[in-house]
Amino acid sequence: MKGRESGMPEEDYWQSFFDADGVVETLFDAAGVAGDLVEFGCGYGTFTLPAARCTRGVVTALDIEPLMVARVRQKAEAQALHNVRAEIRDFVSQGTGLVSATQSHAMIFNLLHLEQPLALLREAHRTLHCGGTVAVMHWRSDVPTPRGPSLDIRPRPEQCQAWLYAVGFTDIRQVDVQAFSPYHFALLATR
Ligand SMILES: C[S@@+](CC[C@H](N)C(=O)[O-])C[C@H]1O[C@@H](n2cnc3c(N)ncnc32)[C@H](O)[C@@H]1O
Repeated sequence: MKGRESGMPEEDYWQSFFDADGVVETLFDAAGVAGDLVEFGCGYGTFTLPAARCTRGVVTALDIEPLMVARVRQKAEAQALHNVRAEIRDFVSQGTGLVSATQSHAMIFNLLHLEQPLALLREAHRTLHCGGTVAVMHWRSDVPTPRGPSLDIRPRPEQCQAWLYAVGFTDIRQVDVQAFSPYHFALLATR
């Protein structure tokens, strides 16, 4: 089931909210990412392609929308990023399909307002090996933002932190991505 309020505006408008390379490099440096990773809800691949440039591992990018997946595949091919595996998948009803404890990192960006945040985080936790990390980024609620889900379903950092703890993550820390994405907060947590 597609998560509530998870549709996308035009690509250029969406990309204008982030310096995606800066966000990914900041998070990867903080997390020490090395190895395969999974992205839940890759959308246009805004963060998929920067991630693929930052790792030699395989980047599994999942989205329920065939058009999004097709665009990510096209861009990865055009940029000769052969480590991107973009797949059409409903991770809410089907999970990721990845073998347990095989991933070094999981990216969950602009998505945790969906109906089943705990199930999603549990699935991320299952896929990560011990010491693997998850990055959660979402629209801030404490400043006006040009986009983002309704404030009543938009999770705050404290809420995300509580969910991360609830499914077994530890060492939860906030990472400053303001220089690259002023409308967002970001958290890292370790399995
Ligand atoms: C708001 S967009 C964020 C895209 C990307 N994470 C980013 O920040 O640029 C959410 C994406 O999640 C996808 N999505 C929503 N529910 C999903 C589900 N159940 N399974 C797979 N993808 C889903 C949507 O199609 C959409 O592309």
